[in-house]
Amino acid sequence: MAQNWTPNSWRHKPIQQVPDFPDAAALAATEAQLATFPPLVFAGEARRLKKQLASVAEGNAFLLQGGDCAESFAEHGADNIRDFFRAFLQMAVVLTFGAQLPVVKVGRIAGQFAKPRSSNIEKQGAIELPSYRGDIINGIDFTEASRIPNPERQLDAYRQSAATLNLLRAFAMGGYANLENVHRWMLGFVKDSPQGERYRKLADRISETMDFMQAVGISADNNPSLRETDFFTSHEALLLGYEEALTRVDSTTGDWYATSGHMIWIGDRTRQLDHAHVEYFRGIKNPVGLKCGPSLQPDELIRLIDALNPADEAGRLTLICRFGYDKVADHLPKLVRAVEREGRKVVWSCDPMHGNTITLNNYKTRPFDRILSEVESFFQIHRAEGTHPGGIHIEMTGKDVTECTGGARAVTAGDLQDRYHTHCDPRLNADQALELAFLLAERMKSGRDEKRMVVNG
Ligand code: PEP
Ligand code: CO
Repeated sequence: MAQNWTPNSWRHKPIQQVPDFPDAAALAATEAQLATFPPLVFAGEARRLKKQLASVAEGNAFLLQGGDCAESFAEHGADNIRDFFRAFLQMAVVLTFGAQLPVVKVGRIAGQFAKPRSSNIEKQGAIELPSYRGDIINGIDFTEASRIPNPERQLDAYRQSAATLNLLRAFAMGGYANLENVHRWMLGFVKDSPQGERYRKLADRISETMDFMQAVGISADNNPSLRETDFFTSHEALLLGYEEALTRVDSTTGDWYATSGHMIWIGDRTRQLDHAHVEYFRGIKNPVGLKCGPSLQPDELIRLIDALNPADEAGRLTLICRFGYDKVADHLPKLVRAVEREGRKVVWSCDPMHGNTITLNNYKTRPFDRILSEVESFFQIHRAEGTHPGGIHIEMTGKDVTECTGGARAVTAGDLQDRYHTHCDPRLNADQALELAFLLAERMKSGRDEKRMVVNG
């Protein structure tokens, strides 16, 4: 067990991004109540994810992580969850085919509620109010009352997470995730996409593979792995009082686990080595993520790895790189080299969203081409360094929103106002998310073909 660590030892450290709760007694009462609630996930599941991530770290699997920037209480309908899951599974199938590797599926869902903000205040006209910090903390309405942090929201977030997780488990295990369904949805997407011709070749090859499996007698009816899927949850564990309340000892191993989600990560703004978030994370045994932005120096990264994964356990730590399409080439190679030099086992994942946010017509948006470009550079850099580009981390929804510009059905700056629903950052809509998967799969496939040609001379 980590030395001198307890679920609340983070309270003695400096901390960033803490909400100003006006009533400390009410906050403590809520946390005490949460501590009596059942865990949302079970330690054995977190260990199973860690094992799958170990396989990513070793170059034998690919990680797909994605979902809302911020889940909201307003968008908690079954159809939202279903549409997200449906788009996500299609991406996973396309990427499985492209990478020819198993895809580890991790949603930013069932707990992704707390948001770090670059400013403590938001100004609209002459009025200044505290910033919105996610539905688990305060309300998005621009009124004084709504922006006051309210601990009771943590109970609602817990319940929403439990209900979301319940439906996801049913979808994953109850037949909805059947590969034949996913394949059919994917063909529907290809048929309707203005770029469908471009995706058809890959789609046809997936269809042929499915037909072949059917012909030799492998079908969803007789093979549970085609009928069911592993699906895991994750979120940024920003609100440490909530996380502490859900930190529990696993009776099988005696280890501490965060039970708010299978995997949790540390945001780019709260990854200071001697601060509260790193302190909390070092003591729990879940697989964890660390966001790596342009200000992270290689030696600092190595010290963070020492703190977060002292035993160098494969699958424990995922480095989620988010530099920006024009900065990734400046920053990623030196981090990769430092980690290789020290011989550490990590999963390298690319978040092509958070370094590519711009403002157009007063909307925060992200151009699709820049998102694609950052992932492509990420792949190229890993290929050049001889390391495994382990996965991607994206903000997406299953709905037809207009939040990111570009894509085959080009969303323009003028379209942003039509269906801009996000509570925080702009997400890829379902079509854009699938297009990204197809374009990446195409590249992964041509990368493999090149390698094969070199090997075969
Ligand atoms: C996020 O993932 O929504 C986020 C805030 O990211 P970062 O910490 O990388 O800025
Ligand atoms: Co975000």
